[in-house]
Parts: sequence; C-alpha cells; structure tokens
Amino acid sequence: MNFLADRLARVKPSPTMAITALATELKAAGRDIISLSVGEPDFDTPANIRAAGIAAIERGDTRYTVFDGRIELKRAICGKFKRENGLDYEPSQITVSSGGKQVLYNAMVATLSPGDEVVIPAPYWVSYPEMVLLCDGEPISVACSQNNGFKLRPEDLDAAVTPKTKWLILNSPSNPSGAAYTEAELKALAEVLLKHEHVWVMTDDMYEHVIYDDFKYTTIAQVEPRLYERTLTVNGVSKAYCMTGWRIGYGAGPTQLIKAMGAIQSNSTANPCSISQAAAIEALNGPQDFIPKHARLFQERRDLVVDLLNQVPGLYCPRPEGAFYVYPSCAGLIGKRTPDGKMIEDDEGFVRYLLESEGVAVVHGAAFGLAPHFRISYATSNEELRDACARIARACHALR
Ligand SMILES: Cc1ncc(COP(=O)(O)O)c(C=O)c1O
Repeated sequence: MNFLADRLARVKPSPTMAITALATELKAAGRDIISLSVGEPDFDTPANIRAAGIAAIERGDTRYTVFDGRIELKRAICGKFKRENGLDYEPSQITVSSGGKQVLYNAMVATLSPGDEVVIPAPYWVSYPEMVLLCDGEPISVACSQNNGFKLRPEDLDAAVTPKTKWLILNSPSNPSGAAYTEAELKALAEVLLKHEHVWVMTDDMYEHVIYDDFKYTTIAQVEPRLYERTLTVNGVSKAYCMTGWRIGYGAGPTQLIKAMGAIQSNSTANPCSISQAAAIEALNGPQDFIPKHARLFQERRDLVVDLLNQVPGLYCPRPEGAFYVYPSCAGLIGKRTPDGKMIEDDEGFVRYLLESEGVAVVHGAAFGLAPHFRISYATSNEELRDACARIARACHALR
C-alpha cells in the first residue's frame, strides 16, 4: 500500500537536485567547486534592518502576531505599492507570509480545483509547476524562445487560454532568464487578458529592484487598471533587501482572495516570524539608497559574464534586463564529444560535463522548461565569476 497521497505521484523530485547532489559529493571529495547555482544576493542584510530585528528581540517582540502580518507591516507594504508602483491598496488587501513562495502557494491552494489550468511561460521558476501539481491543477507551459527575449507573446497567451484557465503567472524580471517585460509588452498581454474575463494574473515581482540600463519597471495592475480586480501582485524583501533567510513575502489583491489565503495560512503556519516582520518594516520604510548601488554592482557582473561567455564558441548568451541570472544557449555544443569520448546529448549532459571536468556547478535549462540552455547565477564576486567563465571556456574548447 502506498501511504503517500496520490498527488505526490505527480510532483517530480526537484530537477536541480541531481546536479546539486553531485556538486556536494565532489566538494566532499576535496574537489575545487565553484557554485553558480544559488538564487540569492551575496550581500549582507543592511545594518539598519539587522538592528531592527535585534531591537525586536530585545523588546520582547517575540510572540504570535496577527496570522497574516501585523498592521504596521501591512501599512508599510501599502506605502511601498503607492510609492514605487502607483498602486492603491488597503491593508485589508495585503497578506504577509513566510516568503513570497508561501504567498504563491497559498494563492494556489485557495483557488485551484482539480483540472484547473495555470499558464506558465517557460523558462519558469521551478516551483511554479510543482505548486500547481500539488494543488491538483494542470500547469500549461508555454515556450518563450530566446528569439523573443524569453518573453510570452500575446498570440501565444491567447492560444494557451482555455475555459479551464484560472491563472497566468508572470515573473518579471525572470528567474531563470533575467528577462523583464516593458510597459508596452505588459499592455499587449493585458489586451489578451481583457478578452478572457475568467483568467486572473499572479505576478511575481520578486526581482523588481534588480534591473539594469535605466529599464523602467512596471507591474501589470499598474499598466492596466482594468486588471486590478483580478491580479495578485506578489513581492517580498528577500532579493531587494538581501533578506532571503528572514522569510518575509507579501501579496496584494482583491479582499476575498486575500481573506481565503489568510484562512489557509492561519490553519497551517500562522504568522510569519515576528522578528522578521519588524525588520521588514524597517526595510520598506527605511533608507532605500543601497538598492540602486546593488543593482549597479549586479549590472557590472552581468556584463562581465555575458561578454566572457559570448567569446566561447558554441555558447550564446543574451544580455538580460534584470535579476541576477543569465540563461545562455548551449545548442552549439550538443552532439559534440568530451575528451574521454562521451557525447553531449542535451543541456543536462553539458552541465554534468562542466561540473565533472572543471568543477563549475550551474543548472540545466530543462529544469526550467526550456532547453538547451543553462542558468548561471552571478550573485558572487567578479573574481569568482572570471574564474568560472575561464573554466567554462576551457571545458567548451576541449569538446570535439
Ligand atoms: C522567481 C522567484 N519567485 C519567488 C521566490 C521566492 O522568494 P522568497 O524567498 O520570498 O520565498 C524566488 C526565490 O528564489 C524566485 O526566484
């Protein structure tokens, strides 16, 4: 008898796990491994935010709070939406969870019935389809090729929508491609959604502040106010404020949905950490000057990595608008042989070869739903990035 729920059979083990396990094994065996697979800024949480967390502990702010976030934090979040996105939300339209990840998951638990479809542009963040499957829904992956900047085209969205479609997930800038939608591109997608009144949008704006080259960031509820009533805008402090370990994310949307998500959270994890909430209030209300400074540093690294990779025969690396990832194509290397005669059959074979031959850990594109590519996270030092790119170049040159 299988004791586990039937739905578990539909959820795949994380496709990044095999490569991570191999990297760990090689490291334990004393190999020099450079990991470009982590999805978090390498900067410390700013001092004022850390101090707010410490002060919360010292004053005894260490008890349960309202299950979906205390009012001061909800007000700070409303302030952020007004200031940065021109969006009006009331505290009753805000939910706070233990990371953006929990906000997304709560939303799916709250809305998906068996068979409901969720349109997910690929390449996508690995957790979206798995969350949909965990909620008995059907992930509908729509390929967004490199030629279209890894972005969903309105005609492809239109073709993917069926009477069963519940959500479109947007993620701009994107993990893993770094692609960000311009206002005009969002407007064009919004036009399609206006035709399909039953489809809602879950926009994951987690990388809003990691944008380059004067890119003008916009989010869909701001671009098309007629979609405000069917948009869940998800964001958090993890990436912008270097607070991945504090676990605070938030969502804003129609009160009925927010209430349902709160009901789920009140019966599962209850409130996000009280200390982290205090730190998040300081993050959102305090000085914001380090945000563009971090973005400039990330931009330098993006340019370094893109320039170095584009000198490698067989690789092609587009220059993305944001986030701290690049998503190069390794199409030119598929079918080649390694020095010991093994054929590179796909992007998974390529990343395995990079790890085994040069000790560079990256994630293959098939994990994100669009092959043959691989994802590099450049949230590490210039020195390490130079070393990693030199190793990748050496490995590629050795292929025949
Ligand atoms: C696209 C995307 N959304 C959401 C998250 C989750 O963020 P959080 O740390 O707030 O749960 C991540 C984290 O890697 C991400 O890349």
